[in-house]
Amino acid sequence: MSYRVKDIALAERGRSLVAWARDHMPVLSRVREMFSSEKPLSGARIGACLHVTKETAVLVEALMEGGATVALCASNPLSTQDEVAAYLASIGVHVYAWRGMSSEEYYEAIGKVLSKAPHITIDDGADLVSTLHKLKYGEGSQELKIVEKIVGGDHIPKVIGGTEETTTGVVRLRSLAEEGKLLYPIIAVNDAYTKFLFDNRYGTGQSTIDGILRATNTLLCGKTFVVAGYGWCGRGIALRARGMGANVVVTEVNPLRALEAVMDGFTVKSMVEACRVGDIFVTATGNINVIRGEHILKMKDGAILANSGHFNVEINLNDLEVITKEKREIKANIAEHVLINGKKVYVLAEGRLVNLVAAEGHPSEVMDMSFANQALSVEYLVKRGRELRPAVYSVPKEIDEEVARLKLESMNVKIDELTEEQKKYLGSWKLGT
Ligand code: ADE
Repeated sequence: MSYRVKDIALAERGRSLVAWARDHMPVLSRVREMFSSEKPLSGARIGACLHVTKETAVLVEALMEGGATVALCASNPLSTQDEVAAYLASIGVHVYAWRGMSSEEYYEAIGKVLSKAPHITIDDGADLVSTLHKLKYGEGSQELKIVEKIVGGDHIPKVIGGTEETTTGVVRLRSLAEEGKLLYPIIAVNDAYTKFLFDNRYGTGQSTIDGILRATNTLLCGKTFVVAGYGWCGRGIALRARGMGANVVVTEVNPLRALEAVMDGFTVKSMVEACRVGDIFVTATGNINVIRGEHILKMKDGAILANSGHFNVEINLNDLEVITKEKREIKANIAEHVLINGKKVYVLAEGRLVNLVAAEGHPSEVMDMSFANQALSVEYLVKRGRELRPAVYSVPKEIDEEVARLKLESMNVKIDELTEEQKKYLGSWKLGT
């Protein structure tokens, strides 16, 4: 058994955190029961790169119950819950994750997972898959050297299929597929209705506010709260910030989304305008350099900046360094920057995912659906992956609907069924006025 975690003595604390998550993940628990009796993943080696949280641990347990062995590394250097990593190591997971790993250690951990020759990959942000492809095509720089040393150039795992958890990862995979370089089929779990409608919107909405509040305890009502990006994550953040009494301003590059934000009752501005009026800024665009030096210099004294997008690239931290005169840590997850113009701004969680770094990520109840999709998609790939050509696939509709059905059942919500007459009506083009 190999693992590397911060402190294995934290395992008992991790065990109770995971028990709490398990008790709030009824759909994944049902999948786990099914896996336990049918063992559909028997003999499968799974390599996963996920935020190492209590919810991820419940997914890993379900996969193991299905007969798989699991190697796990972190999908962000700051998001690991060390107690949970220790607990996973204690139950036989090859886990390589601790909070605060360096960039080199992050890629070493990815190398360790790839060296276990996974049949199935599970990714959140596509770092595992893109590293494997860089190994194959010899592209990439520093990180590739680190990984090559561990995996060995000619030991690239032959993967049956993979899954991807998040929007950013799906975008990267589509670009790999468009270049004709994708080596195996990948299911975009992110794009399931039972994932993005709940996890991206309500999960990110709540956990982002949670991260900002845990870091700062700032009052939201009466503040101007700028949300960059009105995708599903941005929508959720805007909704929840409004619910807390903030005046929400949305910035967008897409006219349809901007119009939707206007009709949803938000003020829409360009970042050049918004930067002058905002008290709190949150990025959720999936793109680089959305808040740049020129914006930061125009911000109010005391502005708070946070990111909820997958990578720490949305706030231009290089620009910020250039215009910073002095910097100090106020407390964990708040860095004060005194700018060359004398104003102060505060950056939360080093510009990394504020919800996972300063809080605990999405609540178990939404990860329940996301990870049930993951587990069932992995089962699908183990059974059918060899028949699929390399491409990015949707989660099969039956899986998405089954997850919704089980979630409703767990909430004791009953719905109607179509009558025969209604089915006939929907199936006919002849009936009209
Ligand atoms: N992504 C967002 N929240 C998460 C959580 N609680 N666990 C794993 N991945 C996440």
